[in-house]
Amino acid sequence: MYPVGTFLCAATSAAGGGYHIMKAVILVNPFLSTEREFYQPRRIAEELKARGVRATVLANAWVTSVGRTGRADILSRNYDFCVYLDKDKYAPRILEAEGMRLFNRASAVELCDDKMLTHIALAGKVPMPETYPAPLCYKAGSAAEDAKAIGDALGWPVVVKECFGSFGEQVYLARDGAELAALSERLKLRPHLLQEFISESAGTDMRVIAVGGEAVACMKRTSGQDFRSNLACGGKGEPVAPTDEVRAIAETVSRTLQLDYCGIDLLFGREGMLLCEVNSNAFFGGIEEVTGVNVAGAYAAHICREIAKF
Ligand SMILES: Nc1ncnc2c1ncn2[C@@H]1O[C@H](COP(=O)(O)OP(=O)(O)O)[C@@H](O)[C@H]1O
Ligand SMILES: [Mg+2]
Repeated sequence: MYPVGTFLCAATSAAGGGYHIMKAVILVNPFLSTEREFYQPRRIAEELKARGVRATVLANAWVTSVGRTGRADILSRNYDFCVYLDKDKYAPRILEAEGMRLFNRASAVELCDDKMLTHIALAGKVPMPETYPAPLCYKAGSAAEDAKAIGDALGWPVVVKECFGSFGEQVYLARDGAELAALSERLKLRPHLLQEFISESAGTDMRVIAVGGEAVACMKRTSGQDFRSNLACGGKGEPVAPTDEVRAIAETVSRTLQLDYCGIDLLFGREGMLLCEVNSNAFFGGIEEVTGVNVAGAYAAHICREIAKF
């Protein structure tokens, strides 16, 4: 007899028949250290266990040994699926090559990791601020003139974002050509983008958590001291109900990027909401506190619906 509530799936082994208890590996960044950072994997593990799935949290290390598959083949032999909470984009590809289903999928992690790729994938599908990839300069010289021409076209100030960044730390505002030239010089070897500044949204945005394409939690974030409203930049959250417009954006983003789970940042534009960025591994501790929504439970429920299709 299996414990009540154990997630059973029809066995696919050569022996045929019988049932198999589903096992999940939750992969996290190997450098997590604080209790707050471990909150997310711990809660997902608890919610999966509550649904009868055996869940183990492991550091995302030693997976990425191409050719000799390192731990990837061991993981795929020992676990039925993986909840991937890291941002590294190589391990997911290697795990998928070993036949493992990842939540989120490798392609979704890649498209969200790079803000410019996210923009390109969603262009024409959801409203977004006007955005250009910044010219990169790999040799002696400067891309500042080209960047200034883009700034003139967008209007000042201009938002400058490194394509890879989090917590608002790699997001800047260039008020004029001189500030943009200084940023261009500093970032000339790193992929970055130039974006229309949405002045109506300065210091405020909306964070939406989407699970299986559905907006399950939503908060407005406001910072009195910075145009960036990330909680890490001093933003404070308040719960809001997702409107039909917000629900439709969450659905389109999730479907287009094939996301099981994501955090979506939206800006308040003059004519409606504008997509700012999509996080495939958004932390949910803050939004759970603000809204009271059990995001971990919603995600575990979605995962169980998906694995029932295996
Ligand atoms: N184009 C923009 N116009 C106005 N504010 C912006 C714009 N882009 C970003 N912001 C502000 O900066 C914050 C951080 O930007 P975001 O792209 O979400 O980067 P991060 O990945 O670091 O969170 C946003 O939450 C928003 O408050
Ligand atoms: Mg953000």
